[in-house]
Amino acid sequence: MPNEMIKKPRGTLDFFSDDARRLYGLETKLLGLAEAYGCEVCDVPMFEENKLFHRTTGESSDIVTKETFDLARKGDKDYTLRPEFTAGVNRAVVENKLYTLPDLPLRYSYFGPVFRYERPQAGRLREFHQYGVEFLDQKIDLDASLDCLLLSLKAVEAALGRKGAVKLNFLGSLESRENYKKALKAYFEPRISTMCDDCKRRLVLNPLRILDCKVPEDQEVAKGAPKIQDYLTAEDREEFNHLLKALDEIGVRYEVDDGLVRGLDYYTGLVWEIYDGDHLDVGAVGGGGKYANLMASIGGPQFEGIGFSLGVERLLLSEDEERSRVDGERKPLDVFVIDLIRDGSVLKVGEDLRALGLSLTYASFGKGLGGAFKMADRLKARAVLIAQKDGSYSFKDMESRKQVDGTKEDVLKSLQEALIK
Ligand code: HAM
Repeated sequence: MPNEMIKKPRGTLDFFSDDARRLYGLETKLLGLAEAYGCEVCDVPMFEENKLFHRTTGESSDIVTKETFDLARKGDKDYTLRPEFTAGVNRAVVENKLYTLPDLPLRYSYFGPVFRYERPQAGRLREFHQYGVEFLDQKIDLDASLDCLLLSLKAVEAALGRKGAVKLNFLGSLESRENYKKALKAYFEPRISTMCDDCKRRLVLNPLRILDCKVPEDQEVAKGAPKIQDYLTAEDREEFNHLLKALDEIGVRYEVDDGLVRGLDYYTGLVWEIYDGDHLDVGAVGGGGKYANLMASIGGPQFEGIGFSLGVERLLLSEDEERSRVDGERKPLDVFVIDLIRDGSVLKVGEDLRALGLSLTYASFGKGLGGAFKMADRLKARAVLIAQKDGSYSFKDMESRKQVDGTKEDVLKSLQEALIK
């Protein structure tokens, strides 16, 4: 009986060739952009102790209550695959005491896979990549907040090649949030019996999260709920107005959306989401916000942070066709070798040519000359080098179609003259 074929897990993607080039190309482009905003790159473990995410992301967030990939207990510890980077980056900054560095704010960028046990559908995966940044400082002021938001928008636009749309909201300090939660509780309590089980749970854990419910009937109920803007302290309101005014002056277009609460519990103050300007319907391509207490909650100093993350697969999905063709295009190969000797001696020649900076690969054993030349064409090879059975060599310039035959030394010399300008 043939062996059973093993398939990839639901909600994951394989990346090959053009797609893989687009993925890694985006990584280089976006990390480069963050560098222009003063960010250093960082990377943190793909799994962390369970309690890191419980404490930071929040007991009421969907991410922690039902979307984490929890690993089987190892030793006396419970571990979880990271559902996002923010908690891990903050943990690393605390553990490595990076907050004692003299140059603040700390600005870190990252790119890598994250894992959420969500119901897979278009644009919603169980393993996906995030690109993002975190700015950390004793106080995140207006300039840092604006700079972070501008970078997020610039990154989306650099990836998509068209305008991004910003939705934002202000969740306020812990004090205004508590007042608001009380008002929401009072509003939803008499209505909760008709609402979904998740909302019933949210009412107890964090009524703010009800505003994020995707059930249409619940959304209708939520429409009549009190608005956060009415519960901000005077100080919060002033900060928000300043931010909006500054965005107007810079010329950034945005929409204030008072239902925008984000799926993570650590936010205080400004929160925002970015959408593909041409496809507002496919969900946010990125989101972020300010968090004042995250670092302290994991044993660090009273530092504030602001950051955002973009969903890389959503960006790749939204990229327009022409751009994705160009980004995924394979670079021409310099030398395609047809080795008819096949005793290993030609490998030394190949290494020497690669050492000169040329890209080079080999035709497979058993491919006839005709088949090998067709493959060279598909690889857009600039030259084909043939090691003949009698020890002589030939080189064909694939552009001029001229061929040179002779000793190994003579042929390699003319190949180098043709390819290395
Ligand atoms: P988030 O909104 O949970 O924020 O995720 C950021 C982006 O990741 C989303 O806007 C979306 O594009 C993408 N994304 C989320 N879930 C999925 C999924 N299942 N499949 C594909 N893409 C997805 C955060 O993760 C925060 N850490 C952002 C942040 C950084 N806040 C402060 N600093």
